[in-house]
Amino acid sequence: MTRIVYVNGRYVPYAQAAVHVEDRGFQFADAVYEVIEVFDGALIDAPRHLDRLARSLAALDIAPPMSGTALGLVMRQVIRRNRVRDGLVYLQVTRGAAPRDFPVPADDTPPTIVCLARAIDRTQREAQAAKGISVVTVPDIRWGRCDIKTVMLLPAVLAKSQARAAGAKEAWLVDEQGFVTEGAASNAWIIDADGHLVTRRADHGILSGVTRATVIDCIEREGLELVERPFRPEEVQVAREAFITAATNTVMPVVSIDAHVIGNGTPGPVTLRLREIFHTVAARSPA
Ligand code: PDD
Repeated sequence: MTRIVYVNGRYVPYAQAAVHVEDRGFQFADAVYEVIEVFDGALIDAPRHLDRLARSLAALDIAPPMSGTALGLVMRQVIRRNRVRDGLVYLQVTRGAAPRDFPVPADDTPPTIVCLARAIDRTQREAQAAKGISVVTVPDIRWGRCDIKTVMLLPAVLAKSQARAAGAKEAWLVDEQGFVTEGAASNAWIIDADGHLVTRRADHGILSGVTRATVIDCIEREGLELVERPFRPEEVQVAREAFITAATNTVMPVVSIDAHVIGNGTPGPVTLRLREIFHTVAARSPA
């Protein structure tokens, strides 16, 4: 349960937390965000998340609302005040509130900052990882700067809803050339016939996942081979293993795509090994 939310310098009860009706995040999706895992009372990979937040803000020319250190303090306060041991922190920064007009408002418009924390049931997540999830493919209808983590998430909302309607947990987005870009809210991976760990290169077409970066560290540590290249849904169907990465579920096995079983239909050994070592490799900052 979320009890206390940080909004623009104040810690307020959840039911009273609010932003302005003319906030540009609300009217234009003129806002960026981060979702950071809390595991065993520690923030996972906070420096990488704060670096990416800074990159997203810079790409949209939104002035950083406060230093990374100050944002870290806010996140820790929110975790403590909500007594979260395992869960997530959600941090959003918008260009602030101004009378509705498309061009960006004056530089002195104060940004809006919201930070909340929520507990997640670890047992339930582990049970899901033991079984693996299904994915369905849908066309990638997003814009050309998917590397910026904006709240412009309508394509993801529609894709996830399509996945849910098909009884799947995630949608894998497919570009006009027929290649998987990434998941609606995760990065997409396969282990190909040669045993290579394959994921798309982090260009403007996908979000450069923090979990993806840490999984690359895990792959190096395990002496496995990484290949950054695009792949098609047909290749996923015959892959040895598949998985997704995201702060919300670290490494989550994928056992079917569009109702085609991957491998023997159970989570693969390499995927499970990466999941097992993930938190020993990731950076942990106590909350
Ligand atoms: N989403 N790609 C997209 C489109 C995402 O939305 C996400 C994460 C990722 C994985 O990034 P990371 O490993 O840094 O979490 C990739 C978050 C969790 C969300 O929107 O809830």
